[in-house]
Amino acid sequence: MARRAQFTTRLGVIAATVGSAVGLGNVWRFPYEAGVNGGGAFLLVYLLFILAIGIPVITAEFIIGRSARANVYGAFKRLPGSRAWNFIGLNGILAAILILSFYSVVAGWTAEYFLDSLTGFGGASSTAELHSRFGNFTASWKSVVWTLIFLGVNFFILRRGVQKGIERMSNMMMPLLFAILLLFAFNSLTLPSAAQGLEFLFTPDFSQLTPTVWLGAMGQAFFSLSIGLGCLITYSGYFKQQTKLLGTAVTTAGLDTLVAILSGIIIFPAVFSFGESPAAGPKLVFEVLPSIFQGMTLGRLWSPLFFLLLLLASLTSTISMAEIAIAYFSEERKMSRSSATALTIGICGVLGTLCALSFGPLGEFTICGMTIFNLFDFVSSTVLLPLGGIFISLYVGFVLKRSAVDAQLQGVPAAVVGAVLFCLRFVAPICITLIFLSGLGLF
Ligand code: PHE
Repeated sequence: MARRAQFTTRLGVIAATVGSAVGLGNVWRFPYEAGVNGGGAFLLVYLLFILAIGIPVITAEFIIGRSARANVYGAFKRLPGSRAWNFIGLNGILAAILILSFYSVVAGWTAEYFLDSLTGFGGASSTAELHSRFGNFTASWKSVVWTLIFLGVNFFILRRGVQKGIERMSNMMMPLLFAILLLFAFNSLTLPSAAQGLEFLFTPDFSQLTPTVWLGAMGQAFFSLSIGLGCLITYSGYFKQQTKLLGTAVTTAGLDTLVAILSGIIIFPAVFSFGESPAAGPKLVFEVLPSIFQGMTLGRLWSPLFFLLLLLASLTSTISMAEIAIAYFSEERKMSRSSATALTIGICGVLGTLCALSFGPLGEFTICGMTIFNLFDFVSSTVLLPLGGIFISLYVGFVLKRSAVDAQLQGVPAAVVGAVLFCLRFVAPICITLIFLSGLGLF
C-alpha cells in the first residue's frame, strides 16, 4: 500500500485538529444550546463533560488512529478484537454524513451573511428588521444554493488531499479567528447589559439541571470536540510518531472550550442589551450579532470580517467530517480520492438540500416532532456521537493491550495513563449510558 500522507509540522497537527474542533459548534451551536438550556447550569455540566469524558475520548481516538493508521472502519479491522467493533466505523460514517449535511446549511447562511453584510444588510438595523430578513432568507431557495456552493468548495479542497488542502488552510485561519474573537469579546463587555449577560452565562441555577440539560450538554461536548465519530481517528492516522497525543488532546479541548466561552461572552451581553431572548434557538447568532456589530465604531467592517472568519472556521470543520467518509471510501472501497470525494459530497448535497428546505417549503414536514434539519442534528449529536463514544472508550479501555496504549502515550506518567484508562473503562461508558437513558425519558 502507498505510504499514507502525514501532517508535516507540529503546528499543522494542532491547527488541523483544533480546526476540526472549532467551528459553528462553538460560535453558533454552543450559545444557542446554552441559551435554551439555562445558561450557567449548562456551562457547568458542559465543562464537566469536557474534562471527564472529552479529553479521555479524544486521547482514545488518537491512540486508535495512530496505532492503526487507517480510516475509521479499517482501523478496527486492523487492530485486535472481534469484527463486531467495526460497527463503530459505520456509526461514525453515518454521523459524519448527517452532520455534514445540516452543518453545510448553516455554513451557507454564514456565506450569505458575509455578502449581505458588505452592503450593510440592505439598510436593516433594528432587531425586528434583521429578524424578518433572516426568516425570509432561510425560507428561500437562496439558502439551498448556498448549501450546495459551500459543499462544492469542500469538494475542491478535499480533492487536493491532506497536506496541501487541509493543513495549509488550517494554518492560516485559526490564529486570525482567535484574535478577532478576543476583540469582539472585549467590545461586548462594554455593552450596557453586559453584567446581566455574564451572569446568565456564569451563574449556575441548579434548579435548571433537568435530564434534557444534561443530554444537551453531553451532545454539545461531543459535537464541539468532534468526537465519537472517528474524525480524530482519521486525523491521527496522519500524525507523526513523535506527536504527543495527550498533550494534543488537552490543547484541543482547551482551545475549543475557550472559543465556546468567548462566543458566550460575545453573545449574551448583546442578547440582553438588545432586549432579545437567549432562548431564540438556531437563529440566535444570526439575528443578534449584526446588531452589535453595527453599533461598534467602524460598524460596517466587523460583520463581514466576522462572518468570513466563521465561514472559514466552518470549512476546517467540514473538511474533517468529510475526510472520515472519503478515507473510508478510498481505502476500504478502493475508490480514487476524486471519486470518494465526489460520492461523499454528492450524498451530502442531496441531504443538505432537504435540511435547507426544512426552513421553507418542508417546514411542516416533521418526524417525531422534528424538522429534517433538527432530526439530523438530534440523531447525530445526541444519539450517534455518544454511542460511538461509549464503544470507543470500551475498546481502548478493555480490548487494546496496555502495552499498545503505553506505546502511543510514551512519556506520560503511568498514573496519568491509569487515570485516562479509568475514565475510559468506567466514567465515560457509565455516565453516557445513564444520561442517554434519562434524557430519552427511559427512567
Ligand atoms: N466540532 C465541529 C464544530 O464545533 C463540528 C464537527 C463535528 C466537526 C464532528 C467534525 C466532526 O463546529
